[in-house]
Amino acid sequence: MTVSLSELDDLFVQRHSCRGFKTDQVPQETIEQIVNTARRVPSWCNAQPWQITVTSGAETDKFRAELMKMATESSAGLGAGSDLPFPTSYSGVYQSRRRSCGWALYRAVGVGKGDRGASAREMMKNFELFGAPHVAIVTSPTELGAYGAMDCGGFVAAFTLAATAAGVATVPQAALATFAPFLHEYFDIPEDRMILCGISFGYADPDHPANSFRTTRAEVDDIIDWRS
Ligand SMILES: Cc1cc2nc3c(=O)[nH]c(=O)nc-3n(C[C@H](O)[C@H](O)[C@H](O)COP(=O)(O)O)c2cc1C
Repeated sequence: MTVSLSELDDLFVQRHSCRGFKTDQVPQETIEQIVNTARRVPSWCNAQPWQITVTSGAETDKFRAELMKMATESSAGLGAGSDLPFPTSYSGVYQSRRRSCGWALYRAVGVGKGDRGASAREMMKNFELFGAPHVAIVTSPTELGAYGAMDCGGFVAAFTLAATAAGVATVPQAALATFAPFLHEYFDIPEDRMILCGISFGYADPDHPANSFRTTRAEVDDIIDWRS
């Protein structure tokens, strides 16, 4: 039996980035099922470059505390220590999309426009993993470069979608890659692997204000450049 496109579309529409979690742990078997499905994505030469380091229980809390300490003490900007360079700028439509999803989040959690203190505090919640009981740190072999990272992007998307189907909420977080040197040391991740992002995950807190908004998408016509 094949899944219909409309069923698949329902799943894609249902998935969203969650920024408020319950404390309940996701059973290891469920995490394994999510990865079992996500690993089906294509990759160049079938290299399957993705690896994830996953925390649970007290390990997540210990990591959260250390990460928060690091982020609070650091004066470095977002992406400062990342293995993969962060975007240099967002202009035109990319800037406006970035702003509108940021404002949607700020409106939802009550951060006023121009309130830099409150927006900085909201940003810091990245390093609290938004209260999630688990995080997956996603890495790719440095030698595979941008295409390895591209393959891992497919894996990240598949992970979030498979998780949605399993009732598990996720938020991919490039923000965590800001502290790549710390993550390498903390998790003993070898230097020949790039740290790309984290995925915090768990069960959504439906009453959390940060989960009360949804982002929009460009129209299909804005995406396809037909040549027929
Ligand atoms: C590679 C990647 C990195 C992201 N990094 C962050 C992040 O650091 N912090 C955050 O709150 N959301 C992050 N997000 C979530 C995006 O903001 C979110 O996917 C986008 O606004 C679309 O919203 P949606 O996921 O709810 O559909 C990231 C998403 C991706 C795919």
